Amino acid sequence: MRAAVVAALGGEPASAEFAWMSWAGTVWRLSGSREEIFVKRAAELAGERDRLAWLAGRWPVPELLAFIQAAGDDWLLTRAVAGVPMYDPSVGWPPARVAQALGEVLQELHAADGRDCPFGVRKPGNVLVHGDYALPNVLVHEGMFSALVDVGRAGLGNPEVDLAAGIWTLQYNYGRGHARAFLDAYGWPPMSDEAIEKLRRKYAR
Ligand SMILES: Nc1ncnc2c1ncn2[C@@H]1O[C@H](COP(=O)(O)OP(=O)(O)OP(=O)(O)O)[C@@H](O)[C@H]1O
Ligand SMILES: [Mg+2]
Repeated sequence: MRAAVVAALGGEPASAEFAWMSWAGTVWRLSGSREEIFVKRAAELAGERDRLAWLAGRWPVPELLAFIQAAGDDWLLTRAVAGVPMYDPSVGWPPARVAQALGEVLQELHAADGRDCPFGVRKPGNVLVHGDYALPNVLVHEGMFSALVDVGRAGLGNPEVDLAAGIWTLQYNYGRGHARAFLDAYGWPPMSDEAIEKLRRKYAR
């Protein structure tokens, strides 16, 4: 692990900072004199590694630097991308703007060419989906969408998977009332409140 970090950073880390902890894993940010990387530790990260490799050049995702198995877990090293999660107060957007941007970005992501995608299910209507399209996984830099992280479930799938996550994450962060702006910005046909709530509940956390 240490050797991989030193190779990725081009030297010993000057600082290491705890970045994020979820039920599934832990993430640290390590800074060297020139480079900055993220280290993610979890039980199973081979799927995320494979998707990062395939998505490179197709979606803005972090560069994959190394994958290691140690201490009973998988460890994924990626180069830091500029940006903070879209809900971060430093972004400075009101909820309505977040909802609109989240929809516009998703529309573009789903329009990517997924024909050769080896992940997910190839069938009519399926598109390249993120699989956990929640605000912490969508990064913004200098007022612009910059990158997607946490791509372990990306692949060909029903676009509703990401729409459900978007509706869920907006309500979780800002309360009710932002789903319509999100769906409109995406270009999804109008839905009743009941249908929106049904879709929100499909988000598998
Ligand atoms: N390469 C990177 N560049 C910039 N920020 C990153 C990078 N990797 C991770 N992050 C930051 O760390 C946070 C956590 O990373 P990530 O989303 O991959 O882990 P996670 O949410 O714990 O994963 P999971 O949902 O699988 O449990 C992200 O929300 C993002 O802010
Ligand atoms: Mg995440």
